[in-house]
Amino acid sequence: MKVGILSGGGDAPGINAVIRAVVRKGIQHYGYEMVGIKDGWRGLLEGEFLPLDLKAASGILPRGGSILGTSRTNPFKHERGAEKILENAEKAGIEAVVVIGGEDTLGVAYKMSKLGLKCVGVPKTIDNDLAGTDYTFGFHTAVAIATEALDRLHTTAEAHHRVIILEVMGRYTGFIALEAGLAGGADAILIPEKPFDIDEVCEYIKRRQVRGRNFSIIVVAEGAKPKGGAEIVYSKSVDEFGHIRLGGVGYYIGKEIEKRMGIETRVVVLGHLQRGGSPTAFDRILATRFGIAAIDLVHEGKFGYMVAIKGNEIISVPLKDVIGKRKTVNLELYDIASVFFG
Ligand code: F6P
Repeated sequence: MKVGILSGGGDAPGINAVIRAVVRKGIQHYGYEMVGIKDGWRGLLEGEFLPLDLKAASGILPRGGSILGTSRTNPFKHERGAEKILENAEKAGIEAVVVIGGEDTLGVAYKMSKLGLKCVGVPKTIDNDLAGTDYTFGFHTAVAIATEALDRLHTTAEAHHRVIILEVMGRYTGFIALEAGLAGGADAILIPEKPFDIDEVCEYIKRRQVRGRNFSIIVVAEGAKPKGGAEIVYSKSVDEFGHIRLGGVGYYIGKEIEKRMGIETRVVVLGHLQRGGSPTAFDRILATRFGIAAIDLVHEGKFGYMVAIKGNEIISVPLKDVIGKRKTVNLELYDIASVFFG
């Protein structure tokens, strides 16, 4: 059997570890022929492939990015997109596709499965907002990077008696902000699931000043919004899945704090540093387990499913139970974090 692999959406550390696992078990154990699909769904739409043999998949376990490339191409936004995908898959002799992606890329996999393309999904996103799985790979690495940033910001904020705000990714969820904020001892964590009140944030800073702590560290998720307000948008142009570019909430908060409290404030937007580079050991292992489980699903003929982790067990869930159901943070964990605010 000839099996294609694609990675779509924003990259996440661990994509190459998934590819390596799928290729190794696919070729060595099942005797499949593997083919790489370039740049997510774009490669199938335009018929662009690359050979994926054991050599191509070796030495890539610790590498960030994706050896296949990625894109936010939505075939359903292209004329005859779905038909072209089916035609190109058939022309290339691809009988099944392992789709590594988040909500958007897997949403396409779900729709294409219903049209007859045999797909198996692998959950990827640093945001960890995908339903059906406790964790997506890439998230652990993003949290580790954000935590290190917080440790570093602490020492400079303390030396200068400043407030420093770290804006992290996560789109409409606060997983990265919450877990990095907890691990990094943030004095306030602002997440989309809990609209913030700027007066409350100022109160935390004041409380610290009373205790002689003349600096504060605030973590804010890019999608956090003030009570009664909207998210702060970097650009209103939308991608093929209809997403605007979030960003700027850190600067909004920084200016408000300076205005209200007269305390020197700095803002750091962590941005794509959270997505680039080598995956942590946890993500390498999770990505490897996902890759092995995905090729096993192909072998079992269990299409229209996504591999997932529940507890420490790798399971499979129907794509239909994943799509359109965003996972949000556990507010009990937020309550634990809030014990340390102010
Ligand atoms: O979905 C992953 C993510 O990193 C989000 O956290 C972020 O909003 C978005 O992608 C940024 O994407 P890009 O800059 O690649 O368009």
